[in-house]
Amino acid sequence: MLQVITSIEDIKQRIKAFKENQLSIGFIPTMGALHEGHLSLVRQARKENDKVVVSIFVNPLQFGINEDFTQYPRAFDNDCKLLSKEGVDIVFNPKAPEIYPNGFCTSVIMEHLEDKLCGKSRPGHFRGVATIVLKLLNLINPDIAYFGQKDFQQTVVIKRVVADLNLDVNIKVLPTIRNKEGLALSSRNAYLSETEKKDALCLYKALIRAQTMVNAGTKNTKEITAEMEKIINNSKSAKIDYISIVNPETLEAVPEVQHGDVAALAVRIGKTRLIDNIILFFLIAVMWINLNVQEIQSCSGSANFSSHRM
Ligand code: PAF
Repeated sequence: MLQVITSIEDIKQRIKAFKENQLSIGFIPTMGALHEGHLSLVRQARKENDKVVVSIFVNPLQFGINEDFTQYPRAFDNDCKLLSKEGVDIVFNPKAPEIYPNGFCTSVIMEHLEDKLCGKSRPGHFRGVATIVLKLLNLINPDIAYFGQKDFQQTVVIKRVVADLNLDVNIKVLPTIRNKEGLALSSRNAYLSETEKKDALCLYKALIRAQTMVNAGTKNTKEITAEMEKIINNSKSAKIDYISIVNPETLEAVPEVQHGDVAALAVRIGKTRLIDNIILFFLIAVMWINLNVQEIQSCSGSANFSSHRM
């Protein structure tokens, strides 16, 4: 049965009991207003762990002063119903003073990652994300923590923090879940009108165009981003924040696409800022990997090869 825990003391005790019984823990940090994207992470965690913990905490530290902290959708009761159906064990739902008591003044700074892409127009955002995720990982001490590819820069930042600070947790990034037309699921889609939802499809169309150009042999990123820009600018309510093709670890913009680079964008549709991305692949590299997998499988009979980039 789903248990709701709000205090740090109680969550520590429950986690201690899991650890004493050698139960593995899968953890999904969220800000609530859950959708199929979150639930895909929960389902994977359910398959791979003895216990599943989900946190629901709208983290004030990752919102700028003029951002949507107060409007951010909150749907706690419905979230609990969804999580209960998925067989989640614990929802950790602390209040802000529990997480940031008086005197709190420590935060995680990532020198080369937080000022790129979304970080340019959201100063302080990734510091806020890294700080809360580090605190939650310390409290929950999971074996595996799950994140969605839609928040690409967030996943890069978190992997960096985990590596740099030697945290003992496996970070898994699962594919973006989209509606049937291609719009990436996001809690912020709730802000969009029906017309804006249609306009917002330009993000996905631009990303698909990038991959199509790569398939046709274009590697020059200026040419590709110029085409993407045209597609976005065709949508009346769209205003580009950035479009960039970057190295997936350093987030540096690249002049020529390499297999595995990421096309990322942020676009305002009316008042709503949406982000999306795609991992660009070279068909020839995918075919080569597939051929080798088949070869390994026919040699060993049981090879299990997978890459989250494919
Ligand atoms: O992706 C989110 O919902 C948030 O950034 C996270 C990881 C829960 C941290 O507040």
